Amino acid sequence: MKGLAIFETHAHYDDKSYDVDRDEVLREVFDKGVDRIINVSSDLRSMENTLELARNYDQIYAAIGIHPDEVYELNENNFQKVRELSLKDKVVAIGEIGLDYHRDDHNKDTQRHWFERQMQLASALGKPVIIHSRDACEDTLDVLREFAHQGVRGVMHCYSYSVETARELLKMGYYIGIGGVVTFKNSRKLIEVVDEVPLERILLETDCPYMAPTPYRGTRNYSGHLPLIAEKIAAIKDVQYQKVLEKTYKNAKDLFLSK
Ligand code: NI
Repeated sequence: MKGLAIFETHAHYDDKSYDVDRDEVLREVFDKGVDRIINVSSDLRSMENTLELARNYDQIYAAIGIHPDEVYELNENNFQKVRELSLKDKVVAIGEIGLDYHRDDHNKDTQRHWFERQMQLASALGKPVIIHSRDACEDTLDVLREFAHQGVRGVMHCYSYSVETARELLKMGYYIGIGGVVTFKNSRKLIEVVDEVPLERILLETDCPYMAPTPYRGTRNYSGHLPLIAEKIAAIKDVQYQKVLEKTYKNAKDLFLSK
């Protein structure tokens, strides 16, 4: 499989939708050439489950962090737990962290507080960040800018903003995470972004079990669908499929595994 290897930068294999057949799904994913996976945690419980996956599978690495929808469970006491777990073996990033005003825009201050605390943690550890940002572009950029001065960089996962915002993120050293949305019929804006962003700054991701690409939209997603996303990127940028796999693999390695 050498040369065809695929790096999955954003998956949630701890999700309960895999409880019935997790080992089988992962075996199929590895068979399809996906040989490195970052499993991304989103709440306190999923941090533990993510670390267990990383212990059980050579191919799986861990991202430790609390998703903006879940920060309400945090307090000074249990934030110690986040710190502690972020020091474990195979933790390659802090995430997913960020701001989400789509589901809840009444507690912006709470979201921002814990986003900044987790950015501080990433800065202190010298680890990259995996950013979730939805309907919160300006506030997210404010925080990223502040920490870019301290050298914090990472990926804007499931990218949903404009070409102009992408340019600004590139300047700050960020990568752009591209997943199944790029294959959707109504993805004109994202196609412009993919066209504009150099291949050297794109990461492949599924966000599985969510966001299955066309023609599997609405079904349980898995990393075996990454070739569909890579094919679409190759078509948009008019480059070879093989080149998309090689470059995105190298990008992910540089960002997450270079230390
Ligand atoms: Ni996610």
